[in-house]
Amino acid sequence: MIGHPGWGQIDKTADPAGYVEYLRKVSALDLVQVWKLKSIQLMAVEPGQRVLDAGCGSGDEVIALARIVGERGTSVGVDASEAMIGEARRRAQDAGVRVELKIGDAHALPFPDASFDAARIERTLQHLANPDRAIAELRRVTRAGGRVVAADPDWATLTVDAPDEEASAVVVRAHVTHVTNGTMGRQLRRRFIDAGFEDVAFKPMAFAVTDLAVADPIVGLTEGAGEAVGDGMISAGRAQAWLDSLKAADSRGRFVASLTGFIVSGRVPAA
Ligand SMILES: C[S@@+](CC[C@H](N)C(=O)[O-])C[C@H]1O[C@@H](n2cnc3c(N)ncnc32)[C@H](O)[C@@H]1O
Repeated sequence: MIGHPGWGQIDKTADPAGYVEYLRKVSALDLVQVWKLKSIQLMAVEPGQRVLDAGCGSGDEVIALARIVGERGTSVGVDASEAMIGEARRRAQDAGVRVELKIGDAHALPFPDASFDAARIERTLQHLANPDRAIAELRRVTRAGGRVVAADPDWATLTVDAPDEEASAVVVRAHVTHVTNGTMGRQLRRRFIDAGFEDVAFKPMAFAVTDLAVADPIVGLTEGAGEAVGDGMISAGRAQAWLDSLKAADSRGRFVASLTGFIVSGRVPAA
């Protein structure tokens, strides 16, 4: 699911609801909620403002932002997927908040210049063909002095405690190559500086999971092992032995996997 090319075209996949469910599982982690809150705080949003979440997925952060900007403000979400926008619409309705939701491409945001006070993009640049183009678009639609925030994991930072450390490294390597921009996390700071943002701040945040059943669908251990086998990087037998060792560790309460995500924020300079 993580390295699946379908993230760029969810509506064309066999199971758009599976992607919504993936986001739900990730959001269920307490630390992910802390990371999302931090990324929203860095936008420095005030009541009455107009704000954007690009690649908004199922819309939880559009809703959170709507609560901050209040009745006088406007929270806007844009996503390439109709299924995601539909889910976001349902959630906003259930939450009883007013939001604006649009199907659109982060590479060519369907908004005029300087039409937002602040903007964010979370776990989406990793899937884009041209992340710099999307960052330039976020800068274009945000007014001078407004803050833009981006958050992405860096899949090369995935660690798993297994006796076959070499197999762990191979699986992680395979996984990185199956995400369009698998090491986006570490690249965020330089991309924001290159895009001309001022006052660029960059924060890492590490996530650890000690339950294999929780970790596997989120960080893709079985998926990564399959990718490594498919790419001829490891034998099927060794990959299975590696997965079995994780299950054995888990059954003894000794499983651990961790991943580092990064958040960058920058201010749009005066024209
Ligand atoms: C991993 S999800 C993250 C969703 C949400 N930001 C979150 O953190 O829960 C990536 C999202 O990016 C969207 N996406 C992929 N390519 C896009 C594009 N070119 N323009 C806009 N959205 C895109 C997908 O439809 C998906 O909803």
